[in-house]
Amino acid sequence: MLHLKTLVSLSRIVLCLFFLLSTTTIADDASVMSKFLAAISPTPSGWSSTKDYCQWKNVNCDSSKRVTSISLASQSLSGTLPSDLGTLTQLTTLSLQKNSFSGPIPLLANLTFLQDLYLDNNNFSSVPSGFFQGLTSLQTLSLSENSNLQPWSIPTDITQSSSLVSLTAGNANIIGSLPDIFDSFPSLQNVRLSYNNLTGSLPSSFNGSGIQNLWLNNQLMGFSGTIDVLSTMSQLYQVWLHKNQFTGPIPDLSKCASLFDLQLRDNQFTGVVPASLMSISSLRNVSLANNKLQGPMPVFPSNVKLDLSGTNSFCKDIPGPCDTQVTTLLEVAGALGYPLRLADSWEGNDACEKAWTFIGCDPDGNVISVTLSKQHFTGTISPAFANLTSLKNLLLNDNNLTGSIPKSLTMLPQLQQVDEVEGVEEVPQRLVQIAQHPVEGRRHQKVLRYRRVWHKKFGRVDLPDNRKDVVKSNVMGGTNGYNGVASDLQSQSSGDRSDFNVFEGGNVSISIQVLRQVTNNFSEENILGRGGFGVVYRGELHDGTKIAVKRMESGVMGTKGMNEFQAEIAVLTKVRHRHLVALLGYCINGNERLLVYEYMPQGTLTQHLFDWRENGLSPLTWKQRVTTALDVARGVEYLHSLAQQSFIHRDLKPSNILLGDDMRAKVADFGLVKNAPDGKYSVETRLAGTFGYLAPEYAATGRVTTKVDVYAFGVVLMELITGRKALDDSVPDERSHLVTWFRRVLINKENIPKAIDQTLNPDEETMESIYKVAELAGHCTAREPHQRPDMGHAVNILGPLVEQWKPACHDEEDNCGIDLHMSLPQALQRWQANEGTSTMFNDSFSQSQSSIPSKPSGMADTFGSVDCR
Ligand SMILES: Nc1ncnc2c1ncn2[C@@H]1O[C@H](COP(=O)(O)OP(=O)(O)OP(=O)(O)O)[C@@H](O)[C@H]1O
Ligand SMILES: *[C@@H]1O[C@H](CO)[C@@H](O)[C@H](O)[C@H]1NC(C)=O
Ligand SMILES: *[C@@H]1O[C@H](CO)[C@@H](O)[C@H](O)[C@H]1NC(C)=O
Ligand SMILES: *[C@@H]1O[C@H](CO)[C@@H](O)[C@H](O)[C@H]1NC(C)=O
Ligand SMILES: *[C@@H]1O[C@H](CO)[C@@H](O)[C@H](O)[C@H]1NC(C)=O
Ligand SMILES: *[C@@H]1O[C@H](CO)[C@@H](O)[C@H](O)[C@H]1NC(C)=O
Ligand SMILES: *[C@@H]1O[C@H](CO)[C@@H](O)[C@H](O)[C@H]1NC(C)=O
Ligand SMILES: *[C@@H]1O[C@H](CO)[C@@H](O)[C@H](O)[C@H]1NC(C)=O
Ligand SMILES: *[C@@H]1O[C@H](CO)[C@@H](O)[C@H](O)[C@H]1NC(C)=O
Repeated sequence: MLHLKTLVSLSRIVLCLFFLLSTTTIADDASVMSKFLAAISPTPSGWSSTKDYCQWKNVNCDSSKRVTSISLASQSLSGTLPSDLGTLTQLTTLSLQKNSFSGPIPLLANLTFLQDLYLDNNNFSSVPSGFFQGLTSLQTLSLSENSNLQPWSIPTDITQSSSLVSLTAGNANIIGSLPDIFDSFPSLQNVRLSYNNLTGSLPSSFNGSGIQNLWLNNQLMGFSGTIDVLSTMSQLYQVWLHKNQFTGPIPDLSKCASLFDLQLRDNQFTGVVPASLMSISSLRNVSLANNKLQGPMPVFPSNVKLDLSGTNSFCKDIPGPCDTQVTTLLEVAGALGYPLRLADSWEGNDACEKAWTFIGCDPDGNVISVTLSKQHFTGTISPAFANLTSLKNLLLNDNNLTGSIPKSLTMLPQLQQVDEVEGVEEVPQRLVQIAQHPVEGRRHQKVLRYRRVWHKKFGRVDLPDNRKDVVKSNVMGGTNGYNGVASDLQSQSSGDRSDFNVFEGGNVSISIQVLRQVTNNFSEENILGRGGFGVVYRGELHDGTKIAVKRMESGVMGTKGMNEFQAEIAVLTKVRHRHLVALLGYCINGNERLLVYEYMPQGTLTQHLFDWRENGLSPLTWKQRVTTALDVARGVEYLHSLAQQSFIHRDLKPSNILLGDDMRAKVADFGLVKNAPDGKYSVETRLAGTFGYLAPEYAATGRVTTKVDVYAFGVVLMELITGRKALDDSVPDERSHLVTWFRRVLINKENIPKAIDQTLNPDEETMESIYKVAELAGHCTAREPHQRPDMGHAVNILGPLVEQWKPACHDEEDNCGIDLHMSLPQALQRWQANEGTSTMFNDSFSQSQSSIPSKPSGMADTFGSVDCR
């Protein structure tokens, strides 16, 4: 009895409890829903506080009056969501997209039935931490276009949503890297995370994933690393990776048999476009623009919409195979994973030309040396080296290479040296012997150095440099950047041209609008100086690069000026040298002619030598003077020794010698340069130049040889020694012509100390140096041209007088100088990019400037109907 009674009453309690519990829960959904109703405005159609919430339009309940779905898309609603929205535990769908909801997204953790969550296109302020906990049924998550979200990262909790199909959160202020969790989502098809600030590499858990649409484009900083993992994602359909920092080659995507759209533009991809890509039959649009792709220009089937434009480094600008040496070297680069460094400099279809770093050639255009030491390269040594049959020197030391030295290398007949390679097993016997018998001395000295020489036919070539004790200047050669300076020039013949580069095709036209803008409309306060042909203005590009704009106006300019303009263009666009002021571009504007030069911040030698008091400068020390003399000698020597075309400056004087902040000099003003055929024969020509510096035979006959520059150089040396101008009307007649007077002084060495610049105050050692330069000055100003030395001799005399310079970088290899080098086209590209003439660069520029990515046009398409229902 008792037993039964107890049972009955117990069951009553249970019933009662159950009733209580269920009424409480029903009451809860009601209270959340009424809070929701109160918080949003305007009132959604079909919602009313007087009606049961299960009757509201677009709200569904189950039989227990538990809310299962709410759909309020595109109703122009605003307001803040109730913080306890997460208590609607039966919710399967929440669609609030395309409204103006603001405030924090409420915590929805443990809504274990929630399948579809659309919060995109609103103005939410934050994603709560723990948001993804327990969302075990979630299939669709859409958070895109909530650009005011506090920065957040994708949490690893999301792995609990193992049924996820679409992860969509473009322009949602996501930062950090993609967590390596993608093996948790066997059903995942869409990953759309464009326009965020995601960084790091693609997670390796993408390996084997069934993702079809992968949109990671337009990250603020950009993803980095390779995209090799894509080769394993066989379901890929649309891959948008543009505007990131991805590197390395395009992998073999032949497993991606459904690939339709591949957007890889605006990254740093290198290497040869694999043939396998061109044979994916489903492919319809491909963009590879603005990468550093190499090798032959790819050819796709005609039904593919292709964009290849921009900065790629294809060997030719038409399809077709590359030169065989280029092909071989690309294979070499391929074994190293196509490093960016090589892609940057290995451009064009001639491995012996231009900026091909690390490569040396013989005069017949065969690659004879490959120097890849100390580059942090990884990968293997390509057997393709064996195809470089003239190879003599191969240096690979101090990298992180693996594998073995290919046996084929032992077949190379000429190979003299392979530097030891750590981490590489199985070194063939002959090469071991070579490696153990290296160039003298310490390990880091083993690297051969190369001398850059000019070859008639092949332009710049690097030859092994067997001079000892080569050191580099600590002076960065301005934009020319090539720093190799030999200090022991005594041992060399004249004509050492170890430190120059020649560029071709540097003819760069610049718009007058840009020049107006950067000179503040040629404002008075930007005037740097005035010369015989016009005014020179200072200008500053957006990236802070300073330039000098020489403006020759129609009024000032007769045919003389026009000819000068033509001449300057012709010469300077071809020539770049550490000690010649670089021409960056030109502009023809009606009758006006403008030349854009690199800016020389310390002005002219005249200012420092003669007008230093007025300019508030200190007088030049002897060391500075002799360094200037050497710099000028090198610059002029280079002009004289250009193969095929030898150039004569004809107006060398202190106002045409400009100084950098490091007080290193460059020769300017090539307006009067005249091309001298073969550099040997004099040509009769219009007299040009400046009195005081004119060689007598030139003044008398107008006949010009390189020796007129040697003469003028001698006059400049005299000015450096004495601090007196070539012509000085303020002194008695017998002293007013510097050359006449100083050559008389030179007759007796004891006279020299009295003739030198008062400010010098030399010690004994300095005096010895001055004697040598004085002697050289006399020699250079010899009456007969044939008695004057050539500039190479001047370089040889002056070199040892200039103290040895310490290397600029701590790296002792020559490469550290070479690689800083930026070619004129590169420099200009960068420049034009910053000037906004290139939309592609401009785009990325503005991206990196603003913290919140502005929505580019076309983005509505990107994040519209596709993601949101
Ligand atoms: N690249 C430059 N960087 C800085 N200042 C410069 C630069 N080029 C010229 N200047 C300044 O502008 C002045 C005029 O230069 P410009 O070459 O026109 O004439 P010049 O060499 O003095 O005379 P001339 O035209 O007779 O050779 C120079 O004296 C110098 O002060
Ligand atoms: C979700 O549920 C788990 C386990 O039931 C619990 O540990 C966690 O605290 C809950 N999370 C939230 C945010 O309520
Ligand atoms: C979004 O919300 C912020 C405040 O969080 C507000 O300043 C901004 O105006 C809102 N933007 C829109 C488009 O409603
Ligand atoms: C992908 O995974 C497979 C097997 O796990 C592995 O062999 C392969 O190297 C991986 N590929 C990439 C590109 O990570
Ligand atoms: C790629 O193809 C799709 C579909 O044809 C097209 O809408 C889209 O504009 C294309 N993208 C580009 C960059 O051409
Ligand atoms: C080789 O790689 C290791 C780590 O991966 C690195 O620490 C080292 O500096 C690298 N060495 C060279 C020479 O690049
Ligand atoms: C060397 O060149 C030949 C033909 O030029 C080519 O067939 C071969 O594949 C090349 N070898 C290597 C290792 O690249
Ligand atoms: C520079 O290029 C323009 C057009 O590209 C051409 O008209 C001009 O002749 C060139 N000038 C020189 C000096 O090569
Ligand atoms: C983007 O991410 C990078 C790296 O995490 C960070 O340094 C940078 O400040 C971020 N930019 C913005 C605008 O948040």
